[in-house]
Amino acid sequence: MTEILVVGGAGYIGSTMCKHLKKNGYQPIVLDNLITGHRQSVKWGPFFEGSIEDTALLNHIFTKHRPKAVMHFAAFCYVNESIKEPGKYYRNNVGATINLLQTMVEHNILNFIFSSSCATYGEPVEIPITENHPQHPINPYGKTKLMVEQIIADYNVAHDLQFVSLRYFNAGGADPDGELGEDHKPEPHLIPLVLRTAMGLRDKIYIFGDDYPTKDGTCIRDYIHINDIAQAHLLALERLLNRKPGGVYNLGNGGGYSVKEVIEVAQIVTGKQIQTEVVKRREGDPGILISTSDKAHKELGWEPKFTDLNYIIETAWHWCQRNPNGYES
Ligand code: UFG
Repeated sequence: MTEILVVGGAGYIGSTMCKHLKKNGYQPIVLDNLITGHRQSVKWGPFFEGSIEDTALLNHIFTKHRPKAVMHFAAFCYVNESIKEPGKYYRNNVGATINLLQTMVEHNILNFIFSSSCATYGEPVEIPITENHPQHPINPYGKTKLMVEQIIADYNVAHDLQFVSLRYFNAGGADPDGELGEDHKPEPHLIPLVLRTAMGLRDKIYIFGDDYPTKDGTCIRDYIHINDIAQAHLLALERLLNRKPGGVYNLGNGGGYSVKEVIEVAQIVTGKQIQTEVVKRREGDPGILISTSDKAHKELGWEPKFTDLNYIIETAWHWCQRNPNGYES
């Protein structure tokens, strides 16, 4: 079986990826420091606990397993935290990634799939956002993702590193089998917080600003199911393994929902009243982020299957009810 190293494979999207790889005939090898990941979600192959900053551990993994590609999910991803603690983000998301890339090149492992973000665009000047949209990130998190995109491009020129960078819009939902789900501690994301409110684990959901230039004044986001994200990674991997050129792709559904609309859909899915309170804007939040993913459709052959927000929230709700406190580990 072709081995693929998944760094951050114990996290929300990384673990979904491992399940998807295994289902499709690949052997995931997970490296995760378990700072935000969960040991319980690593089920589809060998696991190494540690950091991508640890060169000796990377040398060991690359010698023992010879993966054909590396998928990189091992980043901190809280916009607000990145504003308060930029050093943590630059050190891990950029510094540690350089160590990973350098060690890959030294072992002649030259296929790399990177989890980038729509946060690299900053405040959009045009909607929908294409891959050619100017990149002016408005928070350190987005800057770290942009820096890594630029570093990878330099590694491509200097070392022939082949790469695909996938700029996700808002990842949501859970494994339709109910085996994997979203469990961040603390949890900053809208959908899981809304569902925790529906479960009675919180009194209300705070709406961060209703004075944005949108139809109801709340922020609009393009929500995409994590299984569709995993499928895009698989297609990107196969493209690189077939020696086709890589590149940069947006991953979104091309439609947007406001914060209020997400809450309304969640009320329908859960059958619960969800109390809300409007508070001031959260720092670092762009008003509208909607993608076009035409390039991924055309070049990767990616067709997202779970585009309905009801379904995204239903799968997340299913996970939430079965795991009210998240993973045990
Ligand atoms: N929101 C609320 N209340 C909450 C939580 C969120 O109103 O309690 C709002 C936010 O202000 C935002 C929307 O809901 O407008 C979605 O917020 P999330 O935190 O779920 O997601 P973000 O859009 O902030 O973040 C996502 C990814 C990041 C990525 C970012 C790009 O999680 O990794 O998109 O801006 F960087």
